[in-house]
Amino acid sequence: MHVLVTGGAGYIGSHTAVTLIERGHRVTIADNFDNSSPVVVDRIERITGTRPTIAAVDLLNKEALTNVFAADTPDAVIHFAGLKAVGESVAQPLRYYATNIGTTLNLVDVMREHNVHRLVFSSSATVYGDEQQPPYSEDGGHLNATNPYGQTKVMIERILADLAHAEPDWSIGILRYFNPVGAHESGLIGEDPHGIPNNLTPYILQVAVGRLNELGIFGNDYPTADGTGERDYIHVVDLAEGHVAALEKLATTTGAHAWNLGTGTPTSVLDVVAAFEKAIGKPIPYSIKPRRAGDLPQSWADTTRAEQELGWKATRDITAMARDGWRWQSENPDGYAGA
Ligand code: UD1
Repeated sequence: MHVLVTGGAGYIGSHTAVTLIERGHRVTIADNFDNSSPVVVDRIERITGTRPTIAAVDLLNKEALTNVFAADTPDAVIHFAGLKAVGESVAQPLRYYATNIGTTLNLVDVMREHNVHRLVFSSSATVYGDEQQPPYSEDGGHLNATNPYGQTKVMIERILADLAHAEPDWSIGILRYFNPVGAHESGLIGEDPHGIPNNLTPYILQVAVGRLNELGIFGNDYPTADGTGERDYIHVVDLAEGHVAALEKLATTTGAHAWNLGTGTPTSVLDVVAAFEKAIGKPIPYSIKPRRAGDLPQSWADTTRAEQELGWKATRDITAMARDGWRWQSENPDGYAGA
């Protein structure tokens, strides 16, 4: 298959591009490199021996996107491109709604004009909001999110479901990611956040290489076993494999389908820190800080549906996530900027 991967230079997109190429698919990456580096393309080539085609376009530019489809029409699209910082989305809601929803509307319109009806969309466990109880299952109830970033995911899920309902030739997979961490085992690609990381494991890794002094743990008074927040961390390569499984499943089904991609196992902040300390070989200094606004005590997936319908299951544990994350960060202390 020829697969167009929007946002394919980003963290999850680049790992998925590698898995697609390794499974024999042909990949075109569409990326505006707004929050990613062109160095990623060299690294994908080093890992796979194949250089993906690059279309340096912004999906808000519909004409440019149309040209990408006209030049080499894909069989399917995996849509990662979008803005993803929770705090920024609270400060700049209109930018988040305009970008995430506008790009998706452009994309499905151009797909439809070129008779392409197979789409995998990056959603998030954030759509389960703060009223449902984990483990979250796909048909568990009303979707809601506590910030504009999350709301764009809720809204796009609805748009795609309505589209698939109205036009039955669409096959759409909506993948709800839990907490992606780790890196490709080559150490050549990984997560490279700009500025101070918002997320736990990039923060730990930057403390480990001396870019940051100390980790703050946001609360140790939650109703959990050790008092710190519990999340369902999933190795980014397992996540990438989940995308390929979804893409292949869509070849045999129509409609819009949501699938959780997680491990089904919650891990506390303190247990994540311990796993990374073991991989890194030295302690990570930390102090306990107040709870972060909007954080949930616990979040983890019910993975039954993905297992049954996609024949996919995460296989890499927190030890592998820490080992591979550390390999990436220690070999690229300044991320792609150091390449
Ligand atoms: C966050 C976003 C979520 C988004 C996801 C992408 C928020 C509230 N949620 O999820 O919408 O889809 O990232 O991966 O931002 N922690 C610390 N210290 C830190 C950073 C995090 O103790 O410096 C704790 C958090 O309180 C939480 C856990 O680590 O218990 C994981 O946090 P994080 O990596 O930011 O992910 P989420 O908050 O689950």
